[in-house]
Amino acid sequence: EVTAKIAPSMLSSDFANLASEAQRMLNSGADWLHMDIMDGHFVPNLTIGAPVIESLRKHTKAYLDCHLMVTNPIDYVEPMGKAGASGFTFHVEASKDNWQELIQRIKSLGMRPGVALKPGTPIGDVFPLVEAETPVEMVLVMTVAPGFGGQKFMPEMMDKVRILRKKYPSLDIEVDGGLGPSTIEMAASAGANCVVAGSSVFGAPEPAEVISLLRNSVQK
Ligand code: DX5
Ligand code: ZN
Repeated sequence: EVTAKIAPSMLSSDFANLASEAQRMLNSGADWLHMDIMDGHFVPNLTIGAPVIESLRKHTKAYLDCHLMVTNPIDYVEPMGKAGASGFTFHVEASKDNWQELIQRIKSLGMRPGVALKPGTPIGDVFPLVEAETPVEMVLVMTVAPGFGGQKFMPEMMDKVRILRKKYPSLDIEVDGGLGPSTIEMAASAGANCVVAGSSVFGAPEPAEVISLLRNSVQK
């Protein structure tokens, strides 16, 4: 069955000390490191790209769960693969006409393909990608508008998670945005098994306590 993956969002870390921040999260029990790639066009914010992934990869063997909030995800596949990304999750809104080619290229570069959707996008838009001949292996349900950390969780997105979990019992379903001790129960009971958490983990005096609380909610 599906297993819990707790993925601190490095967007909330001190980017000037990325390697030590990553190690701190792994020492605190993180399964994955969530890397938010933003192009200043698909979303109104600009973060990091393949060069930073490549630098971080030299310091850790951890699973780098890359979330691409970019207008042209196909252009990022080769650079991200060569940089050492583990998962490549693109947005369905940015891949209307070429998602099958995109998934194939992600796999051919040795990465695990995922698809994300914004709060305003209907869940049915990702069904074809999950059911394709070469399918995505994870769906990321955004629970805030993408672009920034520290926003408020949107509980109404849990309908999407419930629908996905009912339809695809063994699919990895990731939730991203506003997750923490006060919202994890909603996400876990809806069926999410991969949990991104930025401000709740980095803002805590003991990140390990928050990570284990998130894991326990998903696993029970
Ligand atoms: C938002 C990013 C998230 C963000 C989550 O666009 O995709 O990964 O860092 O941060 P929190 O957990 O603070 O909402
Ligand atoms: Zn993200």
